[in-house]
Amino acid sequence: MVARLLDAEWPRLRRLAARLRRRPPRLVVFVARGTSDNAATLGKYLVESLTGLPASLAAPSVVTLYGARPRLRDALVLAVSQSGRSTDVVEFVEEARRQGGLTVGITNDARSPLARTAHETLLCRAGPERSVAATKTYVAEVALLTLLVGAWARAREVEQGAGALPDALAATLKMEDEIAARAERYRYMQGCLVTSRGYNYATAKEAALKLKETCYLPAEALSSADLLHGPIAIVERDFPVMVIAPSGVPLAHLRQITARLAARGAETMVISDDAEILARAKVALPLVAPVPEVWSPAVAIVPAQLLSLHLAVARGFDPDRPRGLRKVTFTR
Ligand code: F6R
Repeated sequence: MVARLLDAEWPRLRRLAARLRRRPPRLVVFVARGTSDNAATLGKYLVESLTGLPASLAAPSVVTLYGARPRLRDALVLAVSQSGRSTDVVEFVEEARRQGGLTVGITNDARSPLARTAHETLLCRAGPERSVAATKTYVAEVALLTLLVGAWARAREVEQGAGALPDALAATLKMEDEIAARAERYRYMQGCLVTSRGYNYATAKEAALKLKETCYLPAEALSSADLLHGPIAIVERDFPVMVIAPSGVPLAHLRQITARLAARGAETMVISDDAEILARAKVALPLVAPVPEVWSPAVAIVPAQLLSLHLAVARGFDPDRPRGLRKVTFTR
């Protein structure tokens, strides 16, 4: 899927990136819900760190409920929606277009309302996402956002690392049996924290969402900096905390956090390629095929998705059909 996406979307991405360099927007506004909003969180970090432009995550209700008209004329509005049918996301794009903003949709459906509304569309090319909990489209959205911002900012690590992504994902998926064996340990878990920092804060949010939807667990995602600003108080002996710590700028900080969590007796599950931090974990979920930090969110989510899948099964649930959820949620 990712190899197909890299081939097919590259020319369109390049053209869009060149246009953004010629006529840079004043700011970037992401609009999305749920899993797609978690991909957009990564997008915000990438735009701000690689292009230097300010980026925000829109609150669609400002437009759809309050009827306000935030000035979007000089903005790039990047809407992320795998179905392309989330109502308030599409309405926000319509408003941005009315005002003369440049609108780009990232979606898995070329004929969706989002694709019809946005000026430009980037396609996930993931094939239909049948399960209610989005997984492969999250990886595709993350890959498209990384490619787009990387091409725009001419970030060499993005172009150089892209080719390694399909093999890294395939190698990570091969860990499924080991992850399934570890899921059993958490069958009676009642809740957990998920933490990371920087680009992989998005991964922490998405991992927590998968645990909530498929395992019905209260799972809260926090940046590890925010964790220290109070919530760490709830961590006591055996309290489960998932730490997402691929190699990169935040790793030193995440090693310290993991040591602090260990000192409190927490049940740490660590997703990383770093031997030192894995050695401190109660349960190590190794990333077997490391990629440059900028690409790590596309890969580091996979062990968390596999853990959610097997934990849901161990708890007696059907992860493809979470109770009370539908594939497309219509909110205004
Ligand atoms: C999570 C999930 C939902 C969707 C959200 C947005 O697994 O499927 O949170 O991500 O409803 O849907 P799209 O991306 O279709 O706009």
